[in-house]
Amino acid sequence: MITRDEAFTLLTRYNKDPFHIRHAVTVEEVMKWYANELGYKDEAEYWGIVGLLHDIDFELYPDEHCLKAPELLKEGGVSDDIIHAVCSHGYGITVGNGTTIDVEPTREMEKVLFAADELTGLIWAAALMRPSQSTKDMELKSLKKKYKSKGFAAGCSREVIERGADQLGWDLDKLLTLTLKAMAETEDAIVSKL
Ligand SMILES: [Fe+2]
Repeated sequence: MITRDEAFTLLTRYNKDPFHIRHAVTVEEVMKWYANELGYKDEAEYWGIVGLLHDIDFELYPDEHCLKAPELLKEGGVSDDIIHAVCSHGYGITVGNGTTIDVEPTREMEKVLFAADELTGLIWAAALMRPSQSTKDMELKSLKKKYKSKGFAAGCSREVIERGADQLGWDLDKLLTLTLKAMAETEDAIVSKL
């Protein structure tokens, strides 16, 4: 398996925007947190690498998101199981060139990635509006309010987030609660890697 350092080097070959790198590292840490939380402790590094690489093609090929990724990852020596996981986070989504991604998340790890990805974006946008600029002191109640406000972080699709919770067999409350906890508990680790 590709190491975390190799994965980071590969990520930064195709991603220069600090916002994208922060998102990748955030999803990495959140995925590691979920691996531990859900009883996959031995796979935490693996879940993290999937998180780190999941948007590898987005900066340079936004219209071919999840379609260009296999090529970039293959060239970087990434295994097929990771490529499948990366592509499955676009399941059912129609990308800019008109293609609907048909790679279905099957493993629990893939379902967690699908469910948590957009939501981390929304939570981070909410954190930036706080005096602390942090998730650590964010209450679930205030996150829910932001979530329900259609105009807030409109780019973060509630439909995708809710489909993600469904795929896991979770209600939305559980997904919001755990993902906020994941981000708050890993915020220092995320910052230390930037
Ligand atoms: Fe993402």
